[in-house]
Amino acid sequence: MALLYAEQVEYMDLEEMQDTHEDEIKILNEVEQLAVQYGMNKSNLSELEAKLDEYIAHVREHFSNEEVLMKKHHFPHFEMHKMAHDMFLMDLNYAIRQWKEFHDIDKMINFVYKSPEWIVMHINSVDAVTARYLSQKIAHDEKAKQ
Ligand SMILES: [Fe+2]
Ligand SMILES: [Fe+2]
Repeated sequence: MALLYAEQVEYMDLEEMQDTHEDEIKILNEVEQLAVQYGMNKSNLSELEAKLDEYIAHVREHFSNEEVLMKKHHFPHFEMHKMAHDMFLMDLNYAIRQWKEFHDIDKMINFVYKSPEWIVMHINSVDAVTARYLSQKIAHDEKAKQ
């Protein structure tokens, strides 16, 4: 069983958003596998920590790329979408601090375990609407150029 399956999130009208979501789900499931292994024998801490760092970097890039796209194409609900990202990042940053400063890796692992619920909700509501707008806007602008 994986933590999250790509099929659980809506398919994006914009390919690069879809690809990002699939990559992130893959990393999330790799974190889980390493965390389970770590829970059993504590042998793979450095591998788990590297994967957590990869996950964090991916989330930050994922959100910032969406924000760049929204700005570029004047998405009317940019502020609302960015605020949703910022709230998730606040919780993420708190978990990172517990892990990196107070050496409580379980806080970070718990954050990852709880994150699919938010991710599914965010992708299926906010991202889906955004991707639909962006793909239509990009197609429209391309046509206007011809
Ligand atoms: Fe997204
Ligand atoms: Fe988003």
